[in-house]
Amino acid sequence: MTAIEYNGVYAKNYDALTGGETGAGPTVDMLCQVFEGAQNLLEIGVGTGRVALPLARRGFQVSGTEISPHMVERLNAKLQADSEAASRVHTRLIDLSEEQNAADLYDLRSDGAYVSLGSMCCISDDDDLLMMLRQVRTLVPEGGRLAIEAYSPLYFRTHVPDNGLTTMLPLDQGGQARTVTNLVDGGRAAELRTTITHGAEASKAGTMTEKVTLRGPQEYSALLKRAGWNVLVWDEEDGERGLYWILADAAAASGPDERGTWTSL
Ligand SMILES: C[S@@+](CC[C@H](N)C(=O)[O-])C[C@H]1O[C@@H](n2cnc3c(N)ncnc32)[C@H](O)[C@@H]1O
Repeated sequence: MTAIEYNGVYAKNYDALTGGETGAGPTVDMLCQVFEGAQNLLEIGVGTGRVALPLARRGFQVSGTEISPHMVERLNAKLQADSEAASRVHTRLIDLSEEQNAADLYDLRSDGAYVSLGSMCCISDDDDLLMMLRQVRTLVPEGGRLAIEAYSPLYFRTHVPDNGLTTMLPLDQGGQARTVTNLVDGGRAAELRTTITHGAEASKAGTMTEKVTLRGPQEYSALLKRAGWNVLVWDEEDGERGLYWILADAAAASGPDERGTWTSL
């Protein structure tokens, strides 16, 4: 499970901090190529719909899971103003890193799945992540793809000094975000504490904390394999990009998994 809930301050400022749908442009273009021919996609950690909404406008049906009601509230407000996207986006408040009744997941079955901007990095426990990857595998047919954008350990270990890295970002309408990033858990995770000040919109001010677990491509590959995925390719980490992509496809359900139980897919 995810230990930190993304609060109302996070949800209100999320699009301004990430560049919103405009910032998601390259990701959306890339996902359109990866999922060419697919109709239904599953997004784990859909957030405010930064990626799901443009994909819906490009013709995909998107089911998005979330655990933060604040983020889903923002997404639903956008859907109310966009009937075209609303007919193609469906959200569920559910945590797939916890074991769910398979029959309750029927509406999440998709041709492929993706995770953008490190939503899976919110899960610190490898067994929980394995549970999520296994459950997502049951929702995608053999050969269906899974694209994961994850935080790069090399980037954080290269750029975060012992006394923490402070970054400032101007926000629209006179606001400012000050983020202090520290490596925690012996360098296995990064904690990002952001303080928002807002000149014009005081209701958006406040603090928020994110903790992201830093797993490299080899670590993801090992977990993906155990969960019934074939790893196809990943971006080489160059230490200069905070995030990288890893792409897998669903392996055949060929026999007992390493726990000795048969997987029913
Ligand atoms: C950095 S945001 C990314 C949102 C969106 N994918 C994007 O690209 O803008 C991470 C999101 O993952 C959600 N999240 C964290 N753990 C989750 C889980 N176990 N299941 C579903 N969503 C989760 C958080 O609530 C948060 O909205």
